[in-house]
Order: sequence, then structure tokens, then C-alpha cells
Amino acid sequence: MERLDKFITSRGALSRREAQKLIKSGAVTVSGEVCRQIDRKVGENDAVCLNGQAVGAEKTIYIMMNKPAGVVSATEDKRDKTVLDILPDEFRRPGLFPAGRLDKDTEGLLIITNDGGFAHRMLSPKKHVEKRYVAELDGEITEDTIRRFEAGIVFSDGTKCLPAKLENGLNSDKNVGIVTICEGKFHQVKKMFAVCGLKVVHLQRISIGNLYLDSNLPIGSCKSLTNLEIERIFIGKLH
Ligand code: URA
Repeated sequence: MERLDKFITSRGALSRREAQKLIKSGAVTVSGEVCRQIDRKVGENDAVCLNGQAVGAEKTIYIMMNKPAGVVSATEDKRDKTVLDILPDEFRRPGLFPAGRLDKDTEGLLIITNDGGFAHRMLSPKKHVEKRYVAELDGEITEDTIRRFEAGIVFSDGTKCLPAKLENGLNSDKNVGIVTICEGKFHQVKKMFAVCGLKVVHLQRISIGNLYLDSNLPIGSCKSLTNLEIERIFIGKLH
């Protein structure tokens, strides 16, 4: 059991003084009753609400980031800025992490969330959620490259990739490919092209499942997604 003001402070972004002020103002209920007593003892089994909202019941949040190059997809890093470091203040809260990784130099669609169950579902290799990328290359995509992607690229260490779709990109520019993969091996897209003798000079993720990067979202910006929007990732998936 702990004091009511401490209970609220340790589970949210409020200071002890702010929590005490709110308790005294009558904004806090314990098990449905207004409680103005800051040192009232409460525990995990007490339903504590602040302005009608359960305290400690972590609200799930899903953030679409248009990741810029130069930041790493991690919660902390000794050398580099992370995607959490560049989050605008209004999205910050404890427990956030990037669901999946983009390389430091890769841009585009990244989901940041505090929902571990969702991330597990999205990243599970069994789910085969499709990820689509626009890759700019140092050379031209040939019919042979497309066929090799279709057959499943094998890395030099013997790792076999699942069949992937490769289409010529914008205006049929042969140096630009749109790649769809349904797994997430380390540096996968770059390594698949490298096997075919091509270097990726720019990489951007444009979709995950049926969720597309908002084309109005500037690089480095974020927007929150509703539960309905985030479910687009799984549209057409059976599990
Ligand atoms: N494949 C890569 O090579 N890099 C990424 O960031 C994502 C997929």
C-alpha cells in the first residue's frame, strides 16, 4: 500500500505537489468515491481515477513517424540520437519503443508504441506482414534481378530469404525499385540487392501491411494513429 499522492506521482507525469493539489480539489476518486485525503493508503486493487481516467492503466498509443536519416531505431544509444530523442513533447511518455527497426540511414514509416502485444503481433515472422520500400540504386534493375527476388535471394552465409516482389519504381526509372518483403532480416533489402550486384543509395519504407506512410507527414514528424488505423497493418491477415 502507498500514499495516494505517491501512487499518482509514480504512475504518471505529475509532480507530488500537482498530485496533492488535484486530490485536494476533488479530482481524484478511489473506488468511485471522491477522496481529498492525500495520505490515504491505496494499493493495486483500488480503482484510482483522476478526472475520470484510471491512473496507472497505461493507455496504449500508436505513433506514426516519418523517420529521418541519422537517428537510430532504439530506445537509447550511447553515440547516436534515437527516434525517441526526436519525439515531439506531446507524444512523450514512459514505456515507448519503436516496433521494428529501420537502419540509421533509412527513412520512412516507423511505428512507435507502448503496446508490447501489438508489436509482437506485427513483428512475428509467422504473420508475414508485408513491408514495402522504395530503394534507389547505383545501377539498373534487370529482369534477372526481379526473377531472383521472386525466387528468394540467398545470402552468402546461406541464409535464404522468402520470395519478394520487386517492381520498377516511379516513371519506370530502372534505378528505383519498389520492394515488398514479408520478413525482417537484418539489413535485408540492402543485402538482397547486394547479392544482385546493386548498392542501395537511398531507402525509404512506405508501408506496413495496409498502413501507408502519410504523404503529408514531413520527414522527422509524427502523428498518432487510432486503434482502427493501426489495425490496417493486419487487414487481409488471417491471424
Ligand atoms: N532493409 C534494410 O536493408 N534496411 C532497412 O532499414 C530496412 C530493411
